Amino acid sequence: MEIIIKETRKQASEIAANIVADLVKRKKPAVLGFATGATPLALYQELIRRHGQGALSFKDTVTFNLDEYVALDPSHPSSYHRFMEDNLFQHVDVPQAAIHLPDGRAENIPAACEAYEKAIKDAGGIDLQILGIGGDGHLAFNEPGSSLSSRTRIKTLTKETRTANSRYFGDIDQVPKHVITMGLGTIMEAKACLVLAFGAGKAEAVRDMIEGPVSSSCPASILQFHAHAIALMDQEAAARLRRLDYYLEVYHGKPAWQRWE
Ligand code: GLP
Repeated sequence: MEIIIKETRKQASEIAANIVADLVKRKKPAVLGFATGATPLALYQELIRRHGQGALSFKDTVTFNLDEYVALDPSHPSSYHRFMEDNLFQHVDVPQAAIHLPDGRAENIPAACEAYEKAIKDAGGIDLQILGIGGDGHLAFNEPGSSLSSRTRIKTLTKETRTANSRYFGDIDQVPKHVITMGLGTIMEAKACLVLAFGAGKAEAVRDMIEGPVSSSCPASILQFHAHAIALMDQEAAARLRRLDYYLEVYHGKPAWQRWE
């Protein structure tokens, strides 16, 4: 795994935006995997800024989001459909028909999950999957214990995740218990993965992801098997890494073109 540690979330998010922009300019159509949550917000703001300046267009991109709550209407203020619309899509030029999120209201959930997998394949696979990490090491909504080769499916959230996400609903009882999420096997098929992690609350999960055993107890640790995974974080999220000095030395020893700056 390539490990990039920057002082601040803003600096790290600029590097993430450079990685996205490089792909979007180089490959048409570029197939982007997007994530929700607080973590990618600074990245989305930077992409919006560059788009506003005329430096970046998404008209030749196709997008797939990681997950969505079951039974929540796309117009619900806390749905991931709304999150993406509010925080990215309405500000850039991704064609509406090229935007994909799991359908949390599908009557036949297994069929909808299969269709989602097929849509990803038909698009040629995801070129770059943006990811956050949960405090318990989850990726998307693959909670601890998820099969390391799982596909898109329905999952039950842990109390920890429902508590963390209750900030978007006001009250934990309003947070749906079930979600549809890409599986870890689905995520692993992305040609490249970019995990973002910010703040002290992620430090333990980041350490387990990078330095711990590969285990479904820390779902993100499966990325140790990915040939092109980048973990991009701020100093606080990196604080518990045992080989922190080494990762910094490796990064600073790279030529500028390898540093995405
Ligand atoms: C959520 C999302 C994940 C996200 C994670 C961390 O439950 N399903 O995709 O990475 O939790 O959220 P945050 O970025 O708000 O810390």
